[in-house]
Amino acid sequence: GPGLNLAAKKAGKKYFGSATDNPEFTDAAYLKILNDTNEFGQITPGNSMKWDATEPEQNTFTFSGGDQVLDLAEGNGQIVRGHNLVWYNQLPSWVTSGTWTNATLTAAMKNHITNVAGHYKGKVYCWDVVNEPFNDDGTYRTDVFYENIGIEYIAIALQTAREADPNAKLYINEYNIEYAGAKATSLVSLVQSLKAANVPLDGIGVQGHLIVGEVPTDLETQLALYASLGVEVAITELDIHVTDLPTTLPETAALLAQQQEDYQSVITACNNVPGCIGVTIWDYTDKYSWVPSTFSGQGDACPWDANLDIKPAYNGILAGFA
Ligand code: G3I
Repeated sequence: GPGLNLAAKKAGKKYFGSATDNPEFTDAAYLKILNDTNEFGQITPGNSMKWDATEPEQNTFTFSGGDQVLDLAEGNGQIVRGHNLVWYNQLPSWVTSGTWTNATLTAAMKNHITNVAGHYKGKVYCWDVVNEPFNDDGTYRTDVFYENIGIEYIAIALQTAREADPNAKLYINEYNIEYAGAKATSLVSLVQSLKAANVPLDGIGVQGHLIVGEVPTDLETQLALYASLGVEVAITELDIHVTDLPTTLPETAALLAQQQEDYQSVITACNNVPGCIGVTIWDYTDKYSWVPSTFSGQGDACPWDANLDIKPAYNGILAGFA
């Protein structure tokens, strides 16, 4: 195609990018498109920089998977979004099942951030420092960090990341904040209080795991609201999945057309907000999308199909940047 990253750059954005994962690197046809900087100017490792991958045993760090993604991106001249440092999910059991006090878990968290962000110092554009801190009702997720350290874990994580890599943009990344509601309101309050306390925070990541035919109509309003808080905004994990995969072709064509419209709406929303600096899709092909394995009978979320051919969604993205 004519190039999604080229279209994004022409529109004044920093990048259009894709998530990827190490097992996919054996697929030459897949890599050929991933490596094409006309399509992708940015890469996010889907799993290999997470806590379970990088510190499987306490204070034993393994960077081979993350390095492989970074090397690929560096070789292509693509920037990398580091994903992620502190998240309730994909934690090794020594974290989730450990016996912690505030002091011991704070030390373990700081050690993790210092080592991982330190290893990639100067090499990543940004870090999702804190991932998914809220429940959908706007309360804090009562994960191991919140339970042992309290809300302060967020400020401590951000400060530690700043010290480890002063030039990386530091993000809080969250889903179901594409529309107004309790979760979005809580995030805004958190960002305001962090800013008021001079805690380092540079960006809000809006994940963008959406459903065909259900793109929130107030997405642009929300992106503008977040940008107004004095941070940059990025759509970090965009995919728009079909909830009830059809078996007959006419229905598929209708869904693909709706999906094209939906991708265009999301890109238009980012395009219309100057503080929205880029968009990342959560892998570019249905061949490797996370959706079907998590939601049975659902999927077809990406702009390329499982044969690596572009879908109508591709043209929706181009149109959104136009
Ligand atoms: O590595 C193991 C492997 O050893 C084992 O044999 C296999 C059997 O199930 O599992 C492998 O781990 C899987 C891992 O991906 C690596 O492939 C996990 O089961 C699987 O749950 C995990 O899924 C990832 C998911 O995060 C976990 O929550 C997806 O690939 C990844 O795309 C997804 O990404 C998240 C973002 O980080 C945050 N936002 C939501 C997004 C989608 O869920």
